[in-house]
Amino acid sequence: METSTLAQALQAVAAGDTTAAGAAAAQAAEGGSLLGAALAEFLQAEQSEGVYDAPAAFEAFIEGGGNIPLYRATSAALAGLYDQHRPAALLDIGCGNGRALLPALHAAAHQPSRIGLVEPSEALLSTAVAGLPSAEVQTWPTTIQAFLDDLSPESHWPLAQSTFALHTIPHDARTAVLAQLRPHVNMLAIADFDVPDHPSGSLEQLRFLAETYERGLAEYDADRDLVAQGFLMPVLVGQLRPGADRVTWEQSKELWREQLTAAGYRNLTISPLYDYWSSPAFLLTAS
Ligand SMILES: C[S@@+](CC[C@H](N)C(=O)[O-])C[C@H]1O[C@@H](n2cnc3c(N)ncnc32)[C@H](O)[C@@H]1O
Repeated sequence: METSTLAQALQAVAAGDTTAAGAAAAQAAEGGSLLGAALAEFLQAEQSEGVYDAPAAFEAFIEGGGNIPLYRATSAALAGLYDQHRPAALLDIGCGNGRALLPALHAAAHQPSRIGLVEPSEALLSTAVAGLPSAEVQTWPTTIQAFLDDLSPESHWPLAQSTFALHTIPHDARTAVLAQLRPHVNMLAIADFDVPDHPSGSLEQLRFLAETYERGLAEYDADRDLVAQGFLMPVLVGQLRPGADRVTWEQSKELWREQLTAAGYRNLTISPLYDYWSSPAFLLTAS
């Protein structure tokens, strides 16, 4: 009952009908839904700042709930790659505040002597840089697209990684980014989520979002309002509402595999990382 009221609310969001969406969300909230309450509040008083530009809510989000074991597994897997491949240089694309990178460097026996960080949010990038161990550090406070457009042909990294960041780029633009990056890296490691490829706006997709976001919100307590209003609701509404600022284009691991193959990568491996509240997380490597 709650999931179908929530799905109705999300359907109204997708139709651009904020009044109907707010009413259905409020009805779900009366039935005890955390998502209903969060969505109703968000639709009434929307925040306008980018979720990564003013990152307090994002940073609270990644420090709570299932993100703790998710990042533990991610950083351990990355540390394993550093020790196995012993890269002299490492490029992190969309490194955020270093939530995956810094513990990985800490855990690994091998340390790359050159570290490059591409991250458009200056607030997140400065936190990441402050936490780096001694290494030659180069930063690009910009998007991966702008970084690649300015890159000299001889620039090269034995290992590039991107954790939960490449899904911020729309599918076709992401294929172009991956293809442009390929001659500059020996190996690319991507951590992301295996999200079902339901047709956009379909009832299956709306029910999936309703169920998973309800589960995700339940993992937060004191920080729930901050996380919901400043991160999860803009991410959710951004996927549905026509013309909204969208920050996520997730897809199944099969589509990731196809996309990397189309961009010219070979030797793909995909291993599970953690069974996260939204969808299972995996680590993909390709060369
Ligand atoms: C979900 S966060 C993940 C951050 C970090 N990699 C982690 O694992 O915690 C997504 C990151 O991608 C960055 N981002 C967004 N658009 C980007 C783009 N076009 N190029 C590179 N990074 C981007 C955001 O600023 C944000 O830091």
